[in-house]
Amino acid sequence: MITTAKKPRILTGDRPTGRLHLGHYVGSLVNRVKLQDRYDCYFIVADLHMLTTKPTREDIAQAPENIRDMVIDYLAAGIDPEKSTIFVQSAIEETYKLNLIFEMLVTVPRLSRLPSLKEMAKNAHIEEDLMPFGLLGYPVLQAADILLPRANLVPVGKDNEAHVEIAREIARRFNGLYGEVFPEPDVMTGEVPTLVGTDGQGKMSKSLGNAIFLSDDAKTVEQKVRGMYTDPARVRADIPGKVEGNPVFAYHDAFNPDKAEIADLKDRYRAGKVGDVEVKTKLAKAINSFLDPMRARRAEIASRPGAIDEVIRDGNERMRVVARETMRFVDQAMGLCYFR
Ligand code: TRP
Repeated sequence: MITTAKKPRILTGDRPTGRLHLGHYVGSLVNRVKLQDRYDCYFIVADLHMLTTKPTREDIAQAPENIRDMVIDYLAAGIDPEKSTIFVQSAIEETYKLNLIFEMLVTVPRLSRLPSLKEMAKNAHIEEDLMPFGLLGYPVLQAADILLPRANLVPVGKDNEAHVEIAREIARRFNGLYGEVFPEPDVMTGEVPTLVGTDGQGKMSKSLGNAIFLSDDAKTVEQKVRGMYTDPARVRADIPGKVEGNPVFAYHDAFNPDKAEIADLKDRYRAGKVGDVEVKTKLAKAINSFLDPMRARRAEIASRPGAIDEVIRDGNERMRVVARETMRFVDQAMGLCYFR
């Protein structure tokens, strides 16, 4: 007997903020690339979620370029569009419908208490009494994203853990009211090593201007590494330096595969026997070797105009098939299919 065991499903994704950086890679992309063989993966570009804080025409007009940049980075990082489905949230009409149904299955106080929503409102400079209804509903929409492909696992950052919990509660409530349609998806936060920015001041982030992008060329990487923050107390190369908490060594640990070289540099740094220039030159080289295969894939993608748009349209089509199937189950379970 042939048993075609169905792979469990993953859904995860990002709001389209444009180019991705090394922090995105170590925090999430690397795991997605690894998981795509064992799971049936759906990666959502959550442009409707972007509307919760950025709803203007100008914001929307920027979305297509940002989406393309992000998807190019996905592919360059090794996500294979033959194996994984990459799609755009707003292109899937079933999302809007499932969102509305889910709105009935969660209370306003449950959502209002979420620290993540207050945080998002604060970051977007939205005062408490100007909280958009849609921003309060952010986790409900996210639950629709997750449950539309009936995902079993949701790899996300810590900041999204509470939202996956909402999705679990909604799945449970739906199944309790109407019958078993949705799995209760597990969250996977992984170790998510937060990568410090090149300025050593906080986590790597595009808005802080302390990021090395996956799309940076070799020269830009060299420049950024040369300007990196190191041990501020070490004003000369013959003064013993601190390795712990030093971003240059954090990056060596994350991106230099030559562990012997790292150990040697650390020893000599602690002893005041190596200059910053050598440590940084070797780091730039390591990061560039790490990025080189991505550059090759990027060049290959660029040589096929329209390839990215095709990947997205194709992903949308694949997602629509699954979405329609789920909505058939939903309509049947609820009995919400009269006068059709
Ligand atoms: N909330 C995620 C973020 O912080 C983006 C997102 C939208 C998402 N829908 C999702 C993540 C579904 C995982 C699953 O950007």
